[in-house]
Amino acid sequence: MQVKIIDHPLIQHKLTLIRDIKTGPKEFRELLEEVAMLMAYELTRNLPLEETEIETPVAKCCCKVLSGKKLGVVPILRAGLGMVNGVLRLIPAAKVGHVGVYRDPETLKPVEYYCKLPTDVAEREFIVIDPMLATGGSSAATIDMLKRKGAKHIKLMCLVAAPEGVHYINEQHPDVEVYTAAVDDHLNDHGYIVPGLGDAGDRIFGTK
Ligand code: PRP
Ligand code: URA
Repeated sequence: MQVKIIDHPLIQHKLTLIRDIKTGPKEFRELLEEVAMLMAYELTRNLPLEETEIETPVAKCCCKVLSGKKLGVVPILRAGLGMVNGVLRLIPAAKVGHVGVYRDPETLKPVEYYCKLPTDVAEREFIVIDPMLATGGSSAATIDMLKRKGAKHIKLMCLVAAPEGVHYINEQHPDVEVYTAAVDDHLNDHGYIVPGLGDAGDRIFGTK
C-alpha cells in the first residue's frame, strides 16, 4: 500500500477531536481547516526553491523564493470545501478548481455533476482534497477528470482513508501520491470508514 501518513502530534490530536461524535459543526469546521493547513505544510515540503536578490533594511542579500510549477487546489464537493481555506492560508497564490462528485448511496459509485478548473491545467501541480477516502471512487473519478483536462502532476490529500480506498487509488492512478492523517480499519456494509468520523459533508454543514 503506497500512502504517506502524516503523523505530526498536532494533527493526530486534532483528528481525535474531529472524530468525536460530541464535536459539533462549528468546532468540526475549525479543526478541519487547521488540520488541512498543517497537512499542506507537510505536502509542500519538497517544493523547489530559487534564489532572488532583495534588500533588507540593513543590506542586500540572496534569499530563497518558491520556483517551479504553479499550484492548483481541487476540493471535491461538498466535503472538500472544508479543507480549502486551510490550504489557501499557506498557499494563497494557488488557484482553486472545483469538482462535484457524490457517491450514490446504493451502488457507492461516483456520480459526477460539476467541473470548473483553472485554464492552465497542464502547467499546474494539483492537490486534490477531500477529508474521506472510502472506496476511492470519488477521488479516482476526480483525478480522471483532471487528467482528461490535461493535468500531469497530481497529489491526493485526505484526512481519513480506508485501506480499500488507498489500494484503489494506487491501482487506478499509480502516479498519484496519497497523503492522509490516518488509515483506518475497514469499510462497513454501507461504505463508511470504520471507525472513521461519520459523514464528513453532513458534519461540516450540519445537514442530515
Ligand atoms: C463523501 C466524501 C468523499 C466520498 C468518499 O462524499 O466527502 O467525497 O464520500 O467516498 P468514496 O471514496 O467511497 O467515493 P459524499 O458522496 O457523501 O458527498 P458530499 O461531500 O456531498 O456529502
Ligand atoms: N464518506 C464519508 O463522508 N464518510 C465515510 O465514512 C465514507 C464516505
